[in-house]
Amino acid sequence: MNVIYSISDLKKSILAQKRAHRSIAFVPTMGYLHDGHLSLVKDAKEAGDTIVMSIFVNPLQFGPGEDFDTYPRDHERDIALAKENGVDILFLPNQDELYPRNMSATIKVHEGTDVLCGRSRPGHFDGVATVVMKLFQLVEPDVACFGMKDAQQVAIIERLVEDFHLSVEINRGDIVRESDGLAMSSRNVRLIDAERNEAPLISTILKETVDFIHRGRYSSPQEAANDACQRLSKELSADVEYVELLTFPDLSEPDTFSTQEMLLATAVKYSEVRLIDNQLITKE
Ligand code: PAJ
Repeated sequence: MNVIYSISDLKKSILAQKRAHRSIAFVPTMGYLHDGHLSLVKDAKEAGDTIVMSIFVNPLQFGPGEDFDTYPRDHERDIALAKENGVDILFLPNQDELYPRNMSATIKVHEGTDVLCGRSRPGHFDGVATVVMKLFQLVEPDVACFGMKDAQQVAIIERLVEDFHLSVEINRGDIVRESDGLAMSSRNVRLIDAERNEAPLISTILKETVDFIHRGRYSSPQEAANDACQRLSKELSADVEYVELLTFPDLSEPDTFSTQEMLLATAVKYSEVRLIDNQLITKE
């Protein structure tokens, strides 16, 4: 595995792949790797010849008071895991490399940001879209793999690709969970024991709600989301930031349980950690 810290070295390495007619599958991450990231690497291996992973905790997507400083980081461990799992090129830029000075132009996401995490984290998806666009320019991937754990991110990146006519295919990876159902996240290590013990209830309650929807228990999507919200608020010591049931990937509010795909998504806030999870609902 080639570990690369500078943009100039990355460009040389990418050029060599292009000259050898090797397709590039890209997995962008913020590191502190877990099986969710590594399943994207597995998907990438099926999709392309050379696997490029980036690890960069992107300051632009963290708001004031969010966990940029405390976001878990461990490059040594990540390098070993990436190597073991078949990453070919690991790009580990520091902040000065990717943002040598203030950006004079950034991407502003206009659609799909007034719901879910976009509403509670203003500017977050502008930061995500901006860094993803930068990384796409550098890595020139044929395919890029994103996890459905961050379903709103997937929807927004798919639109970004469409809006800017980018020549990259977006691959959606399934959510990887701990054995008790908790969606894997780099932030899970920052949960205290009592929080970690109850956190699997998030996925249990979302899954039960989907089951109730399929069994016709609710007369409207709003009623389903409200019920999930009430149950999460009752069962968890965390603050429930939102529970929303939206169409996917356009993220609009459905009036009825329509035939298209829907997303039941939540964010909950513990003392130090904010967790998100979702279930994609396909018509049975
Ligand atoms: P990060 O949170 O490190 O996630 C990197 C990728 O791993 C994302 O596509 C995310 O959806 C996926 N992922 C995380 N947990 C997962 C899980 N349990 N199952 C499946 N996939 C999972 O998302 C980001 O970083 C950043 O916003 C980034 C796109 C790198 C831009 O900075």
